[in-house]
Amino acid sequence: MTGPVAMVLRKPQPADGPAIYSLVCQCPPLDANSRYAYLLLADHWADTCVLAEDDSGTVKGFIAAYTPPQRLDTLFVWQVAVAAAVRGQGLAQQMLDAILQRPVCAFVRHVEATVTPDNTASARLFQGFARRRAAPVHTGSGYPASCFGDSGHAEELLWRIGPFSRQSVQENPAAA
Ligand SMILES: CC(C)(COP(=O)(O)OP(=O)(O)OC[C@H]1O[C@@H](n2cnc3c(N)ncnc32)[C@H](O)[C@@H]1OP(=O)(O)O)[C@@H](O)C(=O)NCCC(=O)NCCS
Repeated sequence: MTGPVAMVLRKPQPADGPAIYSLVCQCPPLDANSRYAYLLLADHWADTCVLAEDDSGTVKGFIAAYTPPQRLDTLFVWQVAVAAAVRGQGLAQQMLDAILQRPVCAFVRHVEATVTPDNTASARLFQGFARRRAAPVHTGSGYPASCFGDSGHAEELLWRIGPFSRQSVQENPAAA
C-alpha cells in the first residue's frame, strides 16, 4: 500500500449512472450489469452505496451494497470497483468504512460478500476489514457455478464477517 488516497467519498446520484457503468466495465472480473441497474443502485440504494471521485470530479471508485431485507444487521457488498491507477492505496477500505459509518448502518454488525476463489485482491480486502476489527470470518458455499448456467462463471464463495462493534467501525474513519 502506498498510503491513503485523497478522494471525495459520497452517496451516488442517478446522474452518476454512466460513470459508474464505465468504471465497472474497466474493472474485470466484475460483471457489468445494465446501465439501468446502476441507475437504480444510485437512486434507490444510494444510502448503502458509495462513490469516490478525485479533485477533477472523475469517478475512481464505487461500491454497490445493500442490507438484505431478511438480515437488516448485515451489509451485503455486491461489487467493489477501484480504477486501476489508484489501486493499492486503501481506497476500497475507505469506501467500505464510509458506508458503515453512516446512520443508516447503525444496526449493521456483519458484512457479507461473495468472492470467486481466484480473486486474491477481493479476499485480501475482506480479510483486512475483518482483521482491523478483530472480527471473525466465516467462509462457505455461496452460489455454485451451476447457478450461473453455462456462462462459465466460477463459483462464488460466501464470506460473512462479524459480529463487529459499532465502535470498531467508528474507530476506522474513512479519509474523505
Ligand atoms: C479489489 C479492489 C476493489 C481493491 O481495491 P483497492 O483500493 O486497491 O484495495 P485497498 O487498497 O483498499 O486494499 C485492500 C487490501 O487488499 C490488498 N490488495 C489490494 N489489491 C491487491 C492485489 N492485487 N493483490 C493482493 N492484495 C491486494 C491490499 O494490500 C489490502 O490488504 P491489507 O488490508 O492487508 O493491507 C480492486 O483491486 C478492484 O477494483 N479490482 C477489480 C474488481 C474486483 O475484483 N472487485 C472485487 C470483487 S467485488
